[in-house]
Amino acid sequence: MAHQVNGVVALAKGAPVGLVPILVPDPGPGEALIRVKACGVCHTDLHYREGAINDNFPFLLGHEASGTIESVGDGVANVAPGDFVIIAWRAPCGACRSCLRGAPWYCFASRNASQPMTLADGTPLSPALGIGAFAELTLVDAAQAVKVSPQASPEAAGLVGCGIMAGFGAAMNTGNVSRGDSVAVFGCGGVGNAAIAGARLAGAHTIIGVDLDDRKLTWAKEFGATHTINATSIDPVEEIRRLTGGHGVDVAIEAVGNPLTYEQAFYARDHAGTVVLVGVPSPNMKIELPLLEIFGRGGSLKSSWYGDCLPSRDFPMLIDLHLQGRLDLQRFVSETIGIGDVEEAFHKMERGEVLRSVVVF
Ligand SMILES: NC(=O)c1ccc[n+]([C@@H]2O[C@H](COP(=O)([O-])OP(=O)(O)OC[C@H]3O[C@@H](n4cnc5c(N)ncnc54)[C@H](O)[C@@H]3O)[C@@H](O)[C@H]2O)c1
Ligand SMILES: [Zn+2]
Ligand SMILES: [Zn+2]
Repeated sequence: MAHQVNGVVALAKGAPVGLVPILVPDPGPGEALIRVKACGVCHTDLHYREGAINDNFPFLLGHEASGTIESVGDGVANVAPGDFVIIAWRAPCGACRSCLRGAPWYCFASRNASQPMTLADGTPLSPALGIGAFAELTLVDAAQAVKVSPQASPEAAGLVGCGIMAGFGAAMNTGNVSRGDSVAVFGCGGVGNAAIAGARLAGAHTIIGVDLDDRKLTWAKEFGATHTINATSIDPVEEIRRLTGGHGVDVAIEAVGNPLTYEQAFYARDHAGTVVLVGVPSPNMKIELPLLEIFGRGGSLKSSWYGDCLPSRDFPMLIDLHLQGRLDLQRFVSETIGIGDVEEAFHKMERGEVLRSVVVF
């Protein structure tokens, strides 16, 4: 049986999103039906509706969610009805060349539900990042459902499902930020501020937040930035060098998805340092860098997909850190909104008014 619920669907490139009736099937073998409790509005949802990810419209948006298991299909052992879960957009297959090599965070065949969710007329939906959680119910592969402590609030827990994990992991996993390191984070939205929080927990000594918006920089300080730079009035590369004895930072994290900030991150790092790109660029973006600089500066230029996380390992850890009072997830929640308010939340995000608007059900 399919359940009819309302979902936030992007029907065409650039068109405002709206609530549309959708059909969500009961779970088949290996699948889980989730009653969504909360789902954050991430910049990647906006990338989808702008056609910047791919052209597989219509998209069922929402991918930063927590909920409870409504029902499971045959053969599901990791979750049971009633469990409180965070939905992951990475569920390693265990069999691809990357999983077999022992690096499942690069899995090339991550699992998703096999049955499609559809519009009322049967048109298959493309769920954002294989999730689609701006809806009361969503269908995923059971391995995408990661059980965590139900003591965390649904809206705080949901954010771990994308932006927080991506930013935190960009610092801790990809950038391997360690005790005493200096770190710069370009773009202090939800992802960038999570990178700042991760760098602080990892023991970084100097943490520099860069943004164009003073509100974001005030929040960056609350998450652990020791210094902030508003790049509208100050050259961030020169200022970062000044703040680090003329050297640049050990780890420079780009959390915007823009060639300009990538170039700044590239030149703001110390010799043999690491650049981490966690911001998602649009397909038309290009960058030109002197090859000699890439060679001469050594170190590494890395990309961070989902903070190189393993959801089953990392989600419960982040929730535990939160419940211990060491990672304030609630502070990322700028406002809670209704499922009909996602388009307006995109505009608030574009105007820089929020870290995260979170749809609650
Ligand atoms: N790699 C991943 O797995 C992953 C996961 C989630 C999100 N993302 C991406 O991370 C990026 C950030 O996401 P978000 O949700 O935090 O977005 P956001 O809109 O909340 O934050 C972006 C921030 O960048 C700032 N900014 C824009 N231009 C800038 C510039 N020239 N210099 C300095 N700061 C600038 C904005 O003021 C804003 O504060 C997006 O590209 C998103 O798609 C990546
Ligand atoms: Zn795999
Ligand atoms: Zn996201």
